[in-house]
Amino acid sequence: MTDRLKLGLAGLGTVGSGLVRLMAARGSSLASRAGKPIEIVAVSARNKRKKRDVDISQFRFVGDPVALARDPEIDVFVELIGGEGGVAKEAVEAALKAGKHVVTANKALLAHHGASLAALAEKHGVALNFEAAVAGGIPVVKVMRESLKGSDISRVYGILNGTCNYILTLMEREGRSFAEALKEAQAEGYAEADPGFDIGGFDTAHKLALLTSLAFGTRPAFESVYVEGIETIAPADIEAADGLGYRIKLLGVALRTESGIEQRVHPTMVPKETAIAEVDGVSNCVAIDGDFVGDVMLIGPGAGAGPTASSVMSDLLDIARNHILAPFATKAKDLMPYKKAQMRTHEGGYYIRLSVFDRTGAFAAIATRMADQGISLESIVQRLASAELPGVHRRREGTPATVVMITHQTTEAAIRKALQSIARDGHVEAKPQMIRIEKL
Ligand code: NDP
Ligand code: HSE
Repeated sequence: MTDRLKLGLAGLGTVGSGLVRLMAARGSSLASRAGKPIEIVAVSARNKRKKRDVDISQFRFVGDPVALARDPEIDVFVELIGGEGGVAKEAVEAALKAGKHVVTANKALLAHHGASLAALAEKHGVALNFEAAVAGGIPVVKVMRESLKGSDISRVYGILNGTCNYILTLMEREGRSFAEALKEAQAEGYAEADPGFDIGGFDTAHKLALLTSLAFGTRPAFESVYVEGIETIAPADIEAADGLGYRIKLLGVALRTESGIEQRVHPTMVPKETAIAEVDGVSNCVAIDGDFVGDVMLIGPGAGAGPTASSVMSDLLDIARNHILAPFATKAKDLMPYKKAQMRTHEGGYYIRLSVFDRTGAFAAIATRMADQGISLESIVQRLASAELPGVHRRREGTPATVVMITHQTTEAAIRKALQSIARDGHVEAKPQMIRIEKL
């Protein structure tokens, strides 16, 4: 490395152009913070001629990101293309092998190949930094890699996807449809190139796999994350949650259990009076429970050009100051194999919404099926839609009614068996809705 830090920037989309803008705005103040000037010397994108909202005319354009990764003029390869494999992986590997530091926002790549890329970085004595890959502008990777290493972590959880939180907030607060809210999140640059990764819960799972590794010193194990997305959340659930004192959030949760580490991503009912319930819009929240430190919570912007570019810059500043640590805090060769706790052993409370044919005996049959599995109910409510209120419209015997139940603590295995039996009995019109309640 010379008297300046020279960057090769691959990807000029939301995050890449955000970084160009940040560097133009900060100018020489970055040099004093870094101890040396930081400059972009070359860029790469798919389409050289694309009209962009940042000026890239002063940078050399390299069509092939892999060639840019090996470019003799650069010290750091900044990968802001995205994708688990393909050109992003090829270019990051090429950069590490060529002895270039790498900064990336690509959680999909690291969740799948983090351990081998970390080993490659360590072998070549370079950094593999990824602050922007988890929770956008929240500096959680640095906190977990450095600041919390004095404590043993028992649980890390949070709202890790800005797009989903934005959608759920707009549906709840403004009564917007799922499709409208998603469109807006895309227009703001929050969503992944394929938004299925956001709404299907996979982006949260990618980030959770990285947090799990940082928390427990295990290899990132994306394939072991239990994943449910928010596609099935209906306005009826949001309304019912509100009435019961909860809000619905897509959470990623990783915790140590007696049988291994539980990693799960799913819509979750969180009590309204908790801090996490108040995290709205594109904001994210990461909570870390440690032994000596106690409970730590970080809240901030989870996606978007500015916050993500800010995290990329913090990684670059560390490299400029020669502050280089093992990517996952523990040396790659010492990362432990991941021991998975089975989802069926998960314990917690559950919200169940059923569309039940309103006929004699249906309620009793449902209650019996729950009791058969040893599940006790905290509440059971039959909800009437406005068109069904007495005096407005007389319900006919056999038409479906909405029944909402909240269970006491039980196991995933028990609740699944009970719901299967209820469905088999023929009293319900559609697949039961089930949302887990998290103890916070
Ligand atoms: P965009 O889709 O906005 O940008 C992707 C960029 O990569 C574009 O400039 C595109 O080129 C370029 N690109 C795509 N394929 C190639 C290729 N084969 N060769 C060269 N360049 C290519 O993505 P984002 O900026 O939103 O995301 C980038 C990364 O950051 C992803 O890993 C994402 O998960 C992550 N991230 C995104 C956040 C956000 O808020 N958007 C937040 C945190 C992380 P062209 O412009 O010519 O099409
Ligand atoms: N699509 C991601 C999100 C970008 O919405 O959170 C930030 O990682």
